[in-house]
Amino acid sequence: MSAIDRRDFLVRSGLAISAAVLAGEIPLPKVFADLPSLKLDNWKTVREQFQLSSDFVHLAGFFLASHPAPVRAAIERHRRGLDADPIGYWSEHEEKQEATVLRAAADYLAVDPTEIALTDSTTMGLGLLYNGLTLRENQEILTTMHDHYATETSLRLRSERTGATVRQIPLYDSLKNVSRQELLDNLIKNIRPHTRIVAVTWVHSSTGLKLPIQEMAQAIHTLNESRAEQDRVIFCVDGVHALGVEDFRLSEVGCDFLVAGTHKWMFGPRGTGLVWGHQRAWPVANPIIPTFNTQAYDIWMKVSPPTDLPKSLYMTPGGFHSFEYRWALNEAFTFHRAIGKARVTQRISELNQHMKQGLAKMSHVTLHTPMSQDLSSGIVCFEVEGMTPRQVTERLRQKKIIGSVTPYATQYARVAPSLLTSSEDIEQALKGILTLRV
Ligand SMILES: Cc1ncc(COP(=O)(O)O)c(C=O)c1O
Repeated sequence: MSAIDRRDFLVRSGLAISAAVLAGEIPLPKVFADLPSLKLDNWKTVREQFQLSSDFVHLAGFFLASHPAPVRAAIERHRRGLDADPIGYWSEHEEKQEATVLRAAADYLAVDPTEIALTDSTTMGLGLLYNGLTLRENQEILTTMHDHYATETSLRLRSERTGATVRQIPLYDSLKNVSRQELLDNLIKNIRPHTRIVAVTWVHSSTGLKLPIQEMAQAIHTLNESRAEQDRVIFCVDGVHALGVEDFRLSEVGCDFLVAGTHKWMFGPRGTGLVWGHQRAWPVANPIIPTFNTQAYDIWMKVSPPTDLPKSLYMTPGGFHSFEYRWALNEAFTFHRAIGKARVTQRISELNQHMKQGLAKMSHVTLHTPMSQDLSSGIVCFEVEGMTPRQVTERLRQKKIIGSVTPYATQYARVAPSLLTSSEDIEQALKGILTLRV
């Protein structure tokens, strides 16, 4: 059987069962029946889409997504199809679903679908990107002391394997009086003629600090005007705590690459993420894991003639995935867009201001996250006098308030007011923290 015949056969043999699933002959649970008419115009309705326990105030929602109803329904639909006929359902849906997910992500981000590679997490995206970017012999990577384990370790692995120089700098002296200008100046003055890659994190999960990414990108853009193409600074951003929080059009942010998991603030299926690259930047990236993109695979099988495919396709790692999860990412983007990007940002900002203002009034609490929303986003870090951050979160959990501890060398207690919380929840959390006075 030729390769084409084999593909045709796989597709046709899958049609009967998959069509039955889609036609509803294998019914979905009733709870999902009304989903297409979802109206997300109030926060109570939004919250009702999640199966989060109502016994708790959830202030660690950004850690790992709880799936909202449309995402659960899509996962369930694809799971049924795959369980009924894995090869047939896959053959029928792979190309279409991947295209749908890329379209949804691209529309949400205001970029072109060919600029996006799909991954399983932020960490996978950072690892692939930083280990694959072309670097000439004397070129260096500049990064900061404030990045997550995943950025720092990806860069260390790159350096150990290839000898690449990685230089780490602080972006500020003290969070107490940090300013946008200080952050910007410290980054730009540290870019040297041999700096090729700049690796930063938009919103720091260590402190809640938000970098002025657009200004940084603009300053790098200006600096690049006098550089040859092969010396241009490539500006890479871990944007996981900005995606689904900040209201931005990625085409206007100005960075070269943005890496993010979509299983945190975006409420995408657990085990999903993306790497976006600007058209001008993709040529610098090199894939590490073979893609299973069907066009690329067809070229390899000599079913299709060799053609130039977008680099993002090669940067989407194969082999098979938990497809019922990956394909349900479409519904997460649709869910966010149904609420509205501007409303999401405003809501998260208001709740975080509420939280910070309450904490700032408590004499036994040291608030580390800047008060200004210009310098912060959806994460609030603090300390309670006389207690370790671990003790703080354990005591809060006893009071049915779920926070987390920053997983960094310096640890803080951390709360993240989000679309999963209400003003009443913030009041309850503030009362809980108030009673931690020793
Ligand atoms: C800033 C930052 N980057 C990356 C990660 C890793 O994300 P993922 O679980 O999607 O790999 C996290 C948190 O887990 C994070 O806080």
